[in-house]
Amino acid sequence: MLEAKGLIAGYGAAEEILKGATVEIQSGEIVTIIGPNGAGKSTLLKAIAGLVPLKGGSVTISGVDVTRQDALGRSKAGLAFVMQEKNVFGTMSVAENLEVASFSNPSGMAGRRDAIYARYPVLAEKRKALARTLSGGQRQLLAMGMGLMTEPKLLLLDEPTAGLSPKAANELFDAIIELNTTGLPILMVEQHALEALQISTRGYVIVTGRNAATGAGKDLAVDPEIRRLFLGG
Ligand SMILES: Nc1ncnc2c1ncn2[C@@H]1O[C@H](COP(=O)(O)OP(=O)(O)O)[C@@H](O)[C@H]1O
Ligand SMILES: [Mg+2]
Repeated sequence: MLEAKGLIAGYGAAEEILKGATVEIQSGEIVTIIGPNGAGKSTLLKAIAGLVPLKGGSVTISGVDVTRQDALGRSKAGLAFVMQEKNVFGTMSVAENLEVASFSNPSGMAGRRDAIYARYPVLAEKRKALARTLSGGQRQLLAMGMGLMTEPKLLLLDEPTAGLSPKAANELFDAIIELNTTGLPILMVEQHALEALQISTRGYVIVTGRNAATGAGKDLAVDPEIRRLFLGG
């Protein structure tokens, strides 16, 4: 579904942040990336989405090589990326946020928006509310809904539960599981590593821009070394 191999990328003249990181996601999977702060996890998602230029490596989506395509090209190839921050327009309504997310494919917009309202009724109730008035969990649902407006084949989520209460985080994990049951593969970065690995088919540990470990989510969640380093023992 997605193969991102040997990615090398960074910001301007600074030392490279990604030093050969590789991730893959098969159809139907939930895959979680964990690792220390500053390891390059967000940079990895941005590099996959075409928001950071690659100096090395390759990205394929459904077997199509998109390495030379920009973010819009990768979106058209089926990838949707929900950034960690600034992922909704606060001064626009819920409905307007969903509409602008459809800019690259306006035909059929209303039908796709209504499907998102059916999936997330709270967004339908709040369709006229400004996005900045939503709770953290509702805002994340809106950001995911905006990603879904492009009818992606693959969804990338950067720390979807960041800043949420434990209850809201659990609800969001439930929403992620539910979305995945539709067949949509999901690749996410999470700080709530244990909870995220437990709902993931597979996980990757990224340290200083390289793969440090990989395995089944449930195995990583009980690995003593991983627990000691990343999961608080
Ligand atoms: N826009 C940017 N410009 C320059 N350096 C950046 C930028 N974004 C991130 N970095 C640096 O890249 C490194 C990796 O950041 P990031 O990918 O956000 O890590 P993580 O998501 O794993 O915490 C950090 O040292 C960070 O300071
Ligand atoms: Mg990050």
